[in-house]
Amino acid sequence: MTPDAAWTALETAAAAARDRRIDSLFPAEPDRLARLSLSAAGLDIDLSKQPWSLGDLDLALSLARAAGVEPAREALFDGEMVNPSEGRPAVHMALRAPDGADFNALGQPISRAVEATRNAVAAYAEAVRRGARAGATGQPISAVVSIGIGGSDLGPRLIWEALRPLKPAIEIRFVANVDPNELAQALTGLDPATTLIVVISKTFTTQETLANAQAARAWLRAALGQAGDAHLLAVSAAPDRARAFGVPEGQVFPFWDWVGGRYSVWSAVGLPCALGLGPDAIAALHAGAHAMDRHFREAPLEANAPVLLALAHVFNRNGLRRPLRAVIPYAQRLRLLPSYLQQLEMESNGKQVEAGGAPVERATAASVFGDAGTNGQHAYFQLLHQGVDVVPLDILAVRHNTEGDPAAQRKLLANAVAQAEALMVGRDGGPEPHRHFPGNRPSSFVLLDRLDPARLGALLALYEHKTFVESVLWRINPFDQWGVELGKTLAGRVLAELEGGPPGAHDPSTAALIGKLRP
Ligand code: F6P
Repeated sequence: MTPDAAWTALETAAAAARDRRIDSLFPAEPDRLARLSLSAAGLDIDLSKQPWSLGDLDLALSLARAAGVEPAREALFDGEMVNPSEGRPAVHMALRAPDGADFNALGQPISRAVEATRNAVAAYAEAVRRGARAGATGQPISAVVSIGIGGSDLGPRLIWEALRPLKPAIEIRFVANVDPNELAQALTGLDPATTLIVVISKTFTTQETLANAQAARAWLRAALGQAGDAHLLAVSAAPDRARAFGVPEGQVFPFWDWVGGRYSVWSAVGLPCALGLGPDAIAALHAGAHAMDRHFREAPLEANAPVLLALAHVFNRNGLRRPLRAVIPYAQRLRLLPSYLQQLEMESNGKQVEAGGAPVERATAASVFGDAGTNGQHAYFQLLHQGVDVVPLDILAVRHNTEGDPAAQRKLLANAVAQAEALMVGRDGGPEPHRHFPGNRPSSFVLLDRLDPARLGALLALYEHKTFVESVLWRINPFDQWGVELGKTLAGRVLAELEGGPPGAHDPSTAALIGKLRP
């Protein structure tokens, strides 16, 4: 079957799903729950509350085959040039493979360099944690400020929030925004003599990161003089620029252009987490992600978690024309997952041209929002239950929580399950229309037995591969991000004007705003 024929078959079938009740499919399809439940790398996933019938699922799987998901997956793992607009492969899976793997990037072996850098990060982190590598005054390090933005921030920030001990020996703080408030807050209360500054930037040209790095370096030097530079570390795919900035040799950790920014947390970008959590936790995180890589590569499409999550999304997005999706982790420690997925999904797949440059034929990535449950229930869940737009959800929950009151954890889990049920079954409001819940609102449920490094790694890799599969179906390049460039360029021009340069040519609205902000 051609991809076009497979798309047409799926879209035609999806039209029938619009008026069909999801809950009516359970009695009609006795093996529905079994076929739409799967376990992968320690995650339990239930896709039975999605609007597809099992027949639709078969059509979606035919689409995946016709669109070439299997060969595309091989090309990804084989390090072929899957990012044509930048002429690069995308081999982040190499970063979390065990020692002895043999990944290539465009035919060049990369696994030995990966292992060497991984060992260097682990050794550095271990030395700092043991106190063997002290600060310039000889005192042990007790805080790390991680400076970076986008992919150089969201992953480490999420991992730290998810796994941080209640009383960490080394506190990690994050600074992304060029808004000086964030750096000021991060540095407040810290002693430069016991603080490391880790500057993370793939390019080492990002305006926000360099501005914050300069300010943080000045903070170190004001207290420690030139010796303060010994507290600077960098992680970059442009290590020469980091050294030119003044980061000492031996404290610049490299990564490579075949690691996309939003896939970089598995590289030395994880250094702040290694410092705060210890190298063993990072090894377990990598092992979990690697287990998901193997599942993605080896499981047949019909039992393949990233593939099925992607197909469920495509069924909603293209089949039922739903432009939004919500991600609600019922776990406070996962509250940053929606922000992380905003970059992963929207920067990867928010595209209007195919990889070859032709206009896309179908809608691409949905907009993602959400935060920790139950908080959203008291904010935007009104719209999710009774708004005119249907917003599919990913609901996540963690079975065992070792912190705090087990009774509170039961309440949290009860809410997760009940919301998925309420959204699907709804309730007849009788004579009171405002009490009517239409239901038929789909969700996927992802259950983690525990929130530990391995399951967190598996979860992040699950979403990475889901995003990749969607890109194959839409024929787009998920590994570039040209859409961020224009705003950066214009910000540079506006900045010159705000710093007293001559006025440029702008539309009247923009010119008026600049006029109000000029000194
Ligand atoms: O502006 C978008 C972006 O290029 C992201 O893709 C990237 O993660 C982020 O900026 C930060 O870039 P860098 O790591 O080069 O500072």
